[in-house]
Amino acid sequence: MLKNKNWVLSLLAVTIMGTNTVLAQMTITRPGSADVQLFDSNWRFARFGLQADGSSKDEPAHPEEERFADNSWQHLDLPHDWAISGPFRVELSGNTGKLPWQGIGWYRKDFSIPATDAGKKIFIDFDGAMAYAKVWVNGQYVGEWPYGYSSFRFDITPFIKTGKQNTIAVKLDTEKYDSRWYPGAGIYRHVWLVKTNEVHVGCWGTFITTPQVTDTAAIANINVKLDNQGKAPVKAILHTVIYESADGKKPGKKIAVAKDAIVNIQADSNTVSDISVNISRPKLWSLENPHLYIAQTTLFINKRIVDTYNTVFGVRSIAFTARNGFLLNGKQVAIKGVCNHHDLGALGAAVNRSAIARQLSILKKMGCNAIRTSHNPPAPELLELADQMGFLVWDEAFDAWKTGKRKNDYNKLFPQWHERDLQAMVHRDCNHPSVIIWSVGNEVMDQRDVGITRELAEIVHREDPTRPVSNAYNDPDGGRESGAAMALDIMGVNYFFGRQAHWDADSMYKDKPTIGSETSSCVSSRGEYFFGGNYQNWQVSSYDNAFPGWGCSPDEQFRTNNKYPHLLGEFVWTGFDYLGEPTPYNSDETNLLNFRTDPAKKAQLEQALEEIKKKNPPSRSSYFGIVDLCGFPKDRYYNYQAHWRPDFPMAHILPHWNWPERKDSIVPVHVYTSGDKAELFLNGKSLGLKIKRPGQDFRLVWDSVKYVPGEVKVIAYKDGKLWATDIVKTAGKARKLRLLPEAGTIANDGETLCYVTLRVEDNDGIMVPRSHPLVQFMIEGPGEIVATDNGDATSFISFQSHERPAYNGMAQVVVKAAKGKKGKIIIRAVSSGLEEAATEVVVK
Ligand code: GAL
Repeated sequence: MLKNKNWVLSLLAVTIMGTNTVLAQMTITRPGSADVQLFDSNWRFARFGLQADGSSKDEPAHPEEERFADNSWQHLDLPHDWAISGPFRVELSGNTGKLPWQGIGWYRKDFSIPATDAGKKIFIDFDGAMAYAKVWVNGQYVGEWPYGYSSFRFDITPFIKTGKQNTIAVKLDTEKYDSRWYPGAGIYRHVWLVKTNEVHVGCWGTFITTPQVTDTAAIANINVKLDNQGKAPVKAILHTVIYESADGKKPGKKIAVAKDAIVNIQADSNTVSDISVNISRPKLWSLENPHLYIAQTTLFINKRIVDTYNTVFGVRSIAFTARNGFLLNGKQVAIKGVCNHHDLGALGAAVNRSAIARQLSILKKMGCNAIRTSHNPPAPELLELADQMGFLVWDEAFDAWKTGKRKNDYNKLFPQWHERDLQAMVHRDCNHPSVIIWSVGNEVMDQRDVGITRELAEIVHREDPTRPVSNAYNDPDGGRESGAAMALDIMGVNYFFGRQAHWDADSMYKDKPTIGSETSSCVSSRGEYFFGGNYQNWQVSSYDNAFPGWGCSPDEQFRTNNKYPHLLGEFVWTGFDYLGEPTPYNSDETNLLNFRTDPAKKAQLEQALEEIKKKNPPSRSSYFGIVDLCGFPKDRYYNYQAHWRPDFPMAHILPHWNWPERKDSIVPVHVYTSGDKAELFLNGKSLGLKIKRPGQDFRLVWDSVKYVPGEVKVIAYKDGKLWATDIVKTAGKARKLRLLPEAGTIANDGETLCYVTLRVEDNDGIMVPRSHPLVQFMIEGPGEIVATDNGDATSFISFQSHERPAYNGMAQVVVKAAKGKKGKIIIRAVSSGLEEAATEVVVK
């Protein structure tokens, strides 16, 4: 009887769904099942355990219960990072950003499920929750997923009351966790409510591969996992249509239809169906033209649509060779990559698509073509954007295996969870054309362990036989000698390239492609230049010659790459500055692990760390970024741009030219240029022509320039022709503020951000490089200030403050439009004694 009732209800639901599932009329909210709703709004939140000020608060009894009184809890929308508002506390670890991220967070939300959903399957999908998530619905325990970087789904159907209000409660606990960088805290990625019929495509249930790719034809193999959660066997028809898609969201032209597959699925079981489609004259996914396709899988039972599932994919081939590097669609592409941690600076860990898109476009302009998601699976948005914008991705699972670097690392989860976490990463990410390498680890303590390395590589190969598996070694000799590296397809090496010639001669490994999974680790602070030493006032000089003992300058790495052109390329540590790990002012002992085979260097570093510990520096974010925490390029940006975009005419002079205290003293001038030679002029007088030695010089240096105020100009040449110029002028007194929005209009979707740069200028509009005036930011109209920043790694001012000093002449205000509103936002910046600035952004 009950069975019949369910059947009638699900038929009703099927008919309703069937009317709205024609892809050509819709935009994909996100890949996967068609009936998906964002589940981000109207949550209530309270923090227990460790508080922001260091005190502690007991958890109340049973916050998971339906009737629990949560009226006094904070109302908020996700994504949410409970720690980013600080306060920064000097006694907290610099490693994790001196932010109070450890605590216990509870989130609750009421939601209704209409009576018409009876018979449907209801799932809740978390893109990521930091950390040790436990979930209850209507007071009943649903499940847990402890690793904060994994995406996971729960089937909440058994706990749901249709036609009524329901309550979900989520507990997170970051006290149990430790990290070498700022992990954030809270439900910091999106949450989705997914509704399907009993018979449906499974979670991350499609895997599309393109085993044959030429310019004229490609084969797309679509592997579909079908779940039947019903009590009767079914016979279903699987209908697949391929559309072109310019943006990975809207379908374009229909280009292929697969032969329908007839699939029998037993009751309460699942099955897999393989479908093959020919795509003639495919538009290949490449870095320059990242063409995408959408495969729409429609599942019919008795001629009715029971599920529609959309998969975004690309047609491309990848190959990794020990002799000719990495091949994309048969052509060699040097990997010019950066490592990035997941935080978004002033936004903390709370994911924001527009902020990630901005990061990627800043990196793209530099010539960067690849991202390593150090050291964990990224937000899905990063991969969607990488697909759309043309980036390669090294998708990484772990920073620790069985043995932790810290007490409460992933080591606590490894025995029970590593297989599930690896599967979650591979299943979620396997359709992204951008993902080219799976990484099972970073500098893990067990990197010599043959058994674990083999087991992890086998899990990944089983789930995805099409992509190579790597591991980032900081003990590459150990990995090789033990034989552990034999289980991998690609040898990932962090830093120690001095041994490359020796490795190339090793008969066991000579055919194994090698990649610089981490390189350089140069450190600098934007706009700081020191003479006779790199370190002052907890800042680092931007002459780009400072790096820890395991690192090297970008120039040195370029020389190495040139020497070993068969390497696949490099991932620089790091593209952007990030919260935490403020080396060289960081006392984290895990850095000692980089010298596990060099006792002398280890002892030296040990002593330095002791000294830093005693001083307890205020530094709370990294100095490693090529770009600062605001997204402002440091000088190093132009070093990479010059090398990575040789055809882009550019020249960049450093330092700034405001050194009144160094009149007639030497101020070295460095120039990064994509030209092959350059002449420098000071106040119109030539200081000589410098020529780059190919493969040797990656900057031109005039190191005996005596400072006099005025104008420094460089004229760069390439192949005997004028190529690019740059000018740096001495700024006068700070007179005015200027606001420069990065966009003139902003979408009122409640998410898109507009970044606005503040500059302190003199009367002639020249940026005053050593000015630090206190600035107040104000906003009028349908919008709000989300954050402010200035890129100073030692600032303890909350990112939520509307007031902060400029740092070396610049600051930033990040604004967002009010959801659904239209009009104009006016942003103002005011500082005592300076002409104020205002700018307008149209809200659409
Ligand atoms: C590496 C490590 C990174 C970061 C970096 C700093 O050894 O893999 O996570 O700590 O050093 O140079």
